[in-house]
Amino acid sequence: MDFINIAKKRHSVRSYTSQKVEPEKLEQILEAAHVAPTAANLQPVHLIAVQSEEGLAKISKAAGIYNAPLAIIVCADHEKAWVRPFDQKQTGDIDASILTDHMMLQATELGLGTVWVCYFKPDVLREEFQLPDNLEPVNILVIGYSADKLADTERFDTQRIPMDELVSYEKL
Ligand SMILES: Cc1cc2nc3c(=O)[nH]c(=O)nc-3n(C[C@H](O)[C@H](O)[C@H](O)COP(=O)(O)O)c2cc1C
Repeated sequence: MDFINIAKKRHSVRSYTSQKVEPEKLEQILEAAHVAPTAANLQPVHLIAVQSEEGLAKISKAAGIYNAPLAIIVCADHEKAWVRPFDQKQTGDIDASILTDHMMLQATELGLGTVWVCYFKPDVLREEFQLPDNLEPVNILVIGYSADKLADTERFDTQRIPMDELVSYEKL
């Protein structure tokens, strides 16, 4: 499938079947994260892939994950992330989010549903997964087989701001 069609097919899935994600599909999703770019190629990221009942229950204490069979906690390593020297902006969150997006779109291509979750209690995740101080959980990517109906791939005219509001050329 062309990239733009995968991007249009993707939508947030908030209802999943109990079907597990096949190991080879998980591997492909993780490979998509592995090849993602990061600032200065510092790769200040760590992924915790969670599929066990026990692990999913731990995540559920921090976030709603819609009974999905797989969730990937995407962490930024603030000890490794690049810092822009002019204003000290650190790009760990950006790097973590690029990996998340790569995985989300790869999962879509494999026929899986996903939802990107930031509504979680970071302190609870830290505690449950014993995260060291340098690792910040930035995103949770929830993955599984959708029990929702497919979203309309032409929905963007109404569900996104108009193109001329999104983009300007040469000047604001
Ligand atoms: C950074 C980010 C955080 C999000 N956090 C959540 C969340 O915590 N829970 C949730 O159900 N959806 C979450 N979403 C999904 C968005 O609500 C969703 O992508 C948006 O409404 C557009 O709908 P669509 O994904 O179906 O195109 C998040 C998406 C992004 C990009």
